[in-house]
Amino acid sequence: MDAVRQIRFKIHRYNPENGAAPHMDEFVVPVRRGMTVLDGLLYIRDNLDSTLAARSSCRMAICGSCAMLINNFPQLACHTQIEELKADTVEIKPVPNFDIIKDLVVDLSPLFEKHTTTRPYLIRPDVDEMENPTAEFLQTPEELEAYLQFSYCIKCGLCLAACPTVATDRAFPGPQALAQCYRYCRDSRDDGAKERLPTVDRDRGMWRCHLAGACSEACPKGVDPALAIQLLKRLRVSRALGLGRKRRPTPVASPPTTSQPKLPVPEFTVEVSASPAEKQEQEG
Ligand code: FES
Repeated sequence: MDAVRQIRFKIHRYNPENGAAPHMDEFVVPVRRGMTVLDGLLYIRDNLDSTLAARSSCRMAICGSCAMLINNFPQLACHTQIEELKADTVEIKPVPNFDIIKDLVVDLSPLFEKHTTTRPYLIRPDVDEMENPTAEFLQTPEELEAYLQFSYCIKCGLCLAACPTVATDRAFPGPQALAQCYRYCRDSRDDGAKERLPTVDRDRGMWRCHLAGACSEACPKGVDPALAIQLLKRLRVSRALGLGRKRRPTPVASPPTTSQPKLPVPEFTVEVSASPAEKQEQEG
């Protein structure tokens, strides 16, 4: 069995309902190899203090719920091994640049509002096809590659927590929204750049990014929002100067000309054994 180490967890506590000032609470957690920071928090909630508030869901770096400031770096708690921190103390605070609701839980509404403002979906002239699709929109592997990396965003908010511009100007759209704006403008199936770009090309918009790069360092999915923002600026300038090839959104695929005969589906794929009552009846 793996050795157990006693690790001190220092956790930010704040409950607006009891009027107590924000403070840090300490807990000692028995840690085995392979335990994540989220495992430590769940241990505390299950065994030491059931009032601790922290968000989590998937426990596999997919849902983006468990974003926190862990030893002063914005990270996902479920994606951070305690052993890899190489410290006897784990200090956990809510992610910066968001309002705190309770303990480690922050209000992520500004993230989702900014994301929605940039119209993060395909915009096309064939509205009927969008509403009643008849087939997929064509896209080559090269066209997919042009934006694929930016589509890995899980909306955890870590990039906004790390961004020095968001820290000084809450009206700035932030790396998440700007990266997703570029992701959709770059999609060969989309024709919405002329509607989408004005949402970020404005006062306190994309030009406020100073390329600090902290967003890309914090992103747990390798999205590299800092790169997306620079590409977005380039796209805006080239459109303003009338440079670059005019393109139309890729067409809808034609219906297949040959159809494969359907294989017969077996009635049962798992052998169903008789229940004890049915067995008794058969034997009797
Ligand atoms: Fe879903 Fe951590 S719990 S990302």
